[in-house]
Amino acid sequence: MCGIVGYNGKEKAVNILLDGLSRLEYRGYDSAGLAIRDKKIEVFKAKGKLDNLREKIKGKRLKGTIGIGHTRWATHGEPSENNAHPHISNDGCVTLVHNGIIENYREMVLKLESHGYKFYSETDTEVLANVIDYYYKKYKNGPMDAINRTMVRVRGSYAICVMFEDYPDELWVARKDSPMIIGISDDGLYAASDVPAILKYTRNVYYIDNMEVACLTKNKVTFYNLNGDEIKKELKEIKWNLSVAEKNGYEHFMIKEINEEDEVIKKTFNSFVHNNKIEFPISDDELKNIKQIYIVACGSAYHVGVCAGYIIEDLTKVSVRVDIASEFRYRHLELDKDGLVIIVSQSGETADSLAALREAKSQGVKTLGIVNVVSSTIAREADYVLYTLAGPEISVATTKAFSTQLIVSYLFGIHLALLKGKITNKEYTSLIKEVSTLGDKTKKILDKLTNDIQKLSSEFANVKDAFYIGRGLDYAISLEGSLKLKEVSYIHSEAYAAGELKHGTISLIEDGTLVIGIVTQDDIYEKTISNLMEVKSRGAYIITISPENIDIPFSDYKIHIPNTSKYFYPSLAVIPLQLLSYYISVSRGLDVDKPRNLAKSVTVE
Ligand code: F6R
Repeated sequence: MCGIVGYNGKEKAVNILLDGLSRLEYRGYDSAGLAIRDKKIEVFKAKGKLDNLREKIKGKRLKGTIGIGHTRWATHGEPSENNAHPHISNDGCVTLVHNGIIENYREMVLKLESHGYKFYSETDTEVLANVIDYYYKKYKNGPMDAINRTMVRVRGSYAICVMFEDYPDELWVARKDSPMIIGISDDGLYAASDVPAILKYTRNVYYIDNMEVACLTKNKVTFYNLNGDEIKKELKEIKWNLSVAEKNGYEHFMIKEINEEDEVIKKTFNSFVHNNKIEFPISDDELKNIKQIYIVACGSAYHVGVCAGYIIEDLTKVSVRVDIASEFRYRHLELDKDGLVIIVSQSGETADSLAALREAKSQGVKTLGIVNVVSSTIAREADYVLYTLAGPEISVATTKAFSTQLIVSYLFGIHLALLKGKITNKEYTSLIKEVSTLGDKTKKILDKLTNDIQKLSSEFANVKDAFYIGRGLDYAISLEGSLKLKEVSYIHSEAYAAGELKHGTISLIEDGTLVIGIVTQDDIYEKTISNLMEVKSRGAYIITISPENIDIPFSDYKIHIPNTSKYFYPSLAVIPLQLLSYYISVSRGLDVDKPRNLAKSVTVE
């Protein structure tokens, strides 16, 4: 949801800002802009992708060494040059980029209008620039005071990077509930929404917390709290190397990230399993007392939750309730005090998931985050965090983070099952051993199936609809297959519990309709096969994904995956589904990594 970059240093800002924005485009790509200060602040904006902005400034000699940049995912106001950031206050005193939403912006508009302010855009960000300007002029106490007063006055979420006309050597940053990091190198200081934007220049970063302000000069950053008191922060080192944020010869990040899945599965497994024992940062006693589990997440992370729900409940016999975060947060559930709320999130910033976490905490219920981005808000606010080691995921459609979230869910289920006395030591060891094979089995699928699925995909590039069906865990993974297809290919698709089709949806099946059947679960596969037969006899074209030992003779196209325990098939079945979505999108000539209307990190409700 919008990407921000800021730079103040010795080098020309323009190249650093454009490079940083290109690495943040996954956060939004309907317009982009930057402001560079040489003698005065100059602002450039363009609708559409970053290349349009590059085109616009081509040939301009922008010498300034301080500036801010933004790539937008529209919330208030259509994607247009006028609504693109940076936004400027009425007389040009404040220039600002913003990620987030100002919820009471209408109220602020009325207030400012009564003081003679006028607005040129439809954005809440322009209002924010003017609120800062208003306090700056009213109290005349400088940038920090104006920003602090604004933070107290506005509601919503924001990460902002601000330049003041009167302070040519300073860049100001503040945040609440939207991500922001500050990087530091010999060449200058950087502000960014995410690590990849500045990894080329530095690995040394500070994490700025909620309701804090930072002032970046050319060689130093100073942090302040809301009272204006200076605060000290610890410098952290990012361990990733730059190649994880590059395409490395692949055509798209999505296929690169699919091809990284075997490695990140192993890495994540190895970070929790030592000498065949699962080690988590939660005490055994605490886990043993859990009476109810709630898993809350959005999108694909929710689908991990659905898989985890089936698995954890079956293994541990503890009741698991899986909820979509945007529903959970307004359901006003009275949570079980002996419960555990698990939030699954790649970014660790998803607004609804974060709100669900806070709701659980406000009820005094323990929370656990399964999170990929280190030091993200969910990771910091959850009582416990289990990190997935997927590394940076750039493609908007998640693939490798999804796979690592599954691994953590399996390990959590196995660990809790042993603590609850629901599995023997022998079963525990054998389940862990099986999880340890999933990386290699994933690699096998990638090596064996990629070419075939690429060919198959070109045949389905023009289908109008697709249905994904399965039962139990196969239904859970159908949800993910279907989401993956629709988000990157724009083909309408639905996932259905196979037994539910005939209660309505089967009326959509006609000659040639594509139905993808996931058939991995020993105890119920025959029932799914009957359901597949029902659609086949109504003309559907059937693709099946099943282990070698489950044969579906009437399937039009059979995809076989290696055998594993019934609990872990989601990890193997999802790989061909991801490949299918990717190659269908490529065949349709779409922008796979940046599908229309989407953004990677959804920091608004
Ligand atoms: C789909 C996808 C989204 C995310 C969802 C949650 O490919 O990536 O559905 O899974 O927006 O995001 P996180 O995991 O960052 O909370």
